[in-house]
Amino acid sequence: MNTPHKPVLYKEIIHALQPISTGRYVDGTVGAGGHARGILEACAPDGCLLGLDVDRQALALARENLAPYGQRAHLAQASYNSILDVIRGLGWNAVDGILLDLGLSSMQLDTPERGFSFAQDAPLDMRFDRDLGLTAAQLVNTMPEADLVDLLFKYGEEPRARRIVRDILKARPLTTTAQLAGIVKRAYPEHSRIHPATRTFQALRIAVNDELATVGDALPKAVSALRRGGRLAVISFHSLEDRIVKDFFRSASKDLVNPPYEQLYEVERKAILKEINRKPVTPGEEEIKDNPRARSAKLRVVEKL
Ligand SMILES: C[S@@+](CC[C@H](N)C(=O)[O-])C[C@H]1O[C@@H](n2cnc3c(N)ncnc32)[C@H](O)[C@@H]1O
Repeated sequence: MNTPHKPVLYKEIIHALQPISTGRYVDGTVGAGGHARGILEACAPDGCLLGLDVDRQALALARENLAPYGQRAHLAQASYNSILDVIRGLGWNAVDGILLDLGLSSMQLDTPERGFSFAQDAPLDMRFDRDLGLTAAQLVNTMPEADLVDLLFKYGEEPRARRIVRDILKARPLTTTAQLAGIVKRAYPEHSRIHPATRTFQALRIAVNDELATVGDALPKAVSALRRGGRLAVISFHSLEDRIVKDFFRSASKDLVNPPYEQLYEVERKAILKEINRKPVTPGEEEIKDNPRARSAKLRVVEKL
């Protein structure tokens, strides 16, 4: 495969989705197609896969990598939260399995001009879909101080958000990743194990791409897209995202009773999901050694009832 991105929890995803040869699968974050290829291999000879990504460059790579699967692989530049429209467009009623491998790929992180990394100096961009929305530079240069502090607290859990934002305001306009990383570094003169800009960069990336709202919006749609017995597998890389996935899976796996405190209650909505694993699946030591970026991955899997 032509990709520097190593698919995370690869075997675990195939095991979770249990692809079959009559099946239809959606990889909502196809990236370079690493997991997609595994799913296509496992559902040979007739199973099909639809791969979605908002990043045109990622799709071009997926197209190249999935070309050997011919008509069995479909690709579209679309957000995973438009899954229902895209599968209808293909004439698919329901699908057997869906994967969401959230966050960014190694290609995106390691391409300096995408502006995701503080390790290389580049324009402060961070958009997954470069045709849309505001760049990280536009955000840091235009947001009111209080909102920017809030953003770093909420999406980055950055304890020194106030100090960092004060320095951002003094330095505006910011245009590059190095300028921003330098400001954060000055707020942390002491040595720290991880680069202090990690949290600020995460917060901005989440905001630029509206990542948390997109996941929250997409999960019920993904469940609607599944047939009964179909599975949804989600890999998240930070606690804010994992909490959204966990809370949705947990509440949709319980009957909703109303009012919940009465002895004689009515079931208002039956559980629609079954949790396959109550605790998230995480990479083993060997995978982390081979691919340190897998370190924070958490996989949750549900089955539609
Ligand atoms: C961790 S990578 C996926 C890697 C892929 N599983 C593989 O094995 O190559 C996440 C991908 O999700 C894409 N992405 C981010 N937000 C998206 C969205 N709302 N809809 C579709 N794709 C999105 C990113 O552009 C990126 O390519």
